[in-house]
Amino acid sequence: MKKSRITGVGHYVPDQIITNEYLSSIMDTNNEWIVERTGIEERRWFTPGKDTVTSMSFEASKMALERAGIDAKEIDFIVFATITPDYFVPGNGVLLQRELGIPGIPALDVRNACSGFIYALSVADQFIKTGMYKTILVVGAEIQSSALDKSDAGRSSAVIFADGAGAAVLQAVESDQHGILSTHLHADGEHAEELYLKDPGSSREVRLSPEIINEPSFKMFMNGNTVFKHAVVRFSEVINEALEANGKDKSEIDLLVPHQANLRISNYIQQKMGLSDDKVFNNIMKLGNTTAGTIPIALSQAWEQGRLKEGDLVVLAAFGSGFTWASALLNW
Ligand code: UT7
Repeated sequence: MKKSRITGVGHYVPDQIITNEYLSSIMDTNNEWIVERTGIEERRWFTPGKDTVTSMSFEASKMALERAGIDAKEIDFIVFATITPDYFVPGNGVLLQRELGIPGIPALDVRNACSGFIYALSVADQFIKTGMYKTILVVGAEIQSSALDKSDAGRSSAVIFADGAGAAVLQAVESDQHGILSTHLHADGEHAEELYLKDPGSSREVRLSPEIINEPSFKMFMNGNTVFKHAVVRFSEVINEALEANGKDKSEIDLLVPHQANLRISNYIQQKMGLSDDKVFNNIMKLGNTTAGTIPIALSQAWEQGRLKEGDLVVLAAFGSGFTWASALLNW
């Protein structure tokens, strides 16, 4: 049976480590609050002049290609998930394509925030299943730190979001043992403004002006409590949907890789699913929430740590701005 399989994963995180102590020195927060409410001990922020979404995703992609044992020339299609592209237009897919030196192949940008990587993976999976493409590079990368409100008013988001990139090579295989079993995508635009970055919006008569730049609408807004409440419900739902669609039980899960939104969310899901610590992968403690980057970065680190073995039943799940939420069930 024709399926798509992740054959290589890679990641890149910036060198600059931002500790809770540092954040406490620039805004009214403290280490105890951040660790207790989010689980985050430190995160990475990009170095201006060195890191870009393109440069970070290029490093992550090179690693993924090397681990897949293929050359960039074999890529048929790039699907790039980000809400923080280097340019407003064009998207980041074409910039990565240029870096990889593979002109001519198509590149698609996906803007589904924290669910972006799973949406991108699902798009890629469909193209492989129809036989249109054989090898697809799927990327999730963000620079969030430059859009954060680092004043006291923005502290609940500023302590969470961070920068980083992950990539996965998806290839066509004829296999019953390996590959993506199904993906499940959802959205509810009713809650669009609970987690959003309004400006520079196109419906303003003048998109950019000195006044707008100082407006709160120019920084990421998150109604943390509401997002949290929806997240815990949707995460569980969409994981169960994936299991049911494939006649699997939660006891069969080898590794759950949840979007790293908040360690309390991951722990809640873990408890609800009755999974032991070794069956859930978390790295938010050291990397924060990198939006579309969390899942491919986590996959790459989990693979490095030997926590992804041939044939393992793996669940990916995410929830975020939109609201959007999604899951994927696969045999590694
Ligand atoms: O990845 C995409 C989806 N995003 C998520 O899933 C994030 C979901 N939400 C969350 O993770 C949590 O809601 C937050 C971590 C954002 C906030 O945690 P919380 O436990 O929901 O706190 P809260 O917003 O209810 O605030 C509790 C208190 C407030 O003070 P008062 O009103 O009780 O005096 C806040 O002002 O904590 C205060 N607070 C802070 N204190 C110190 C909020 N942020 C901070 C901070 N440092 N950074």
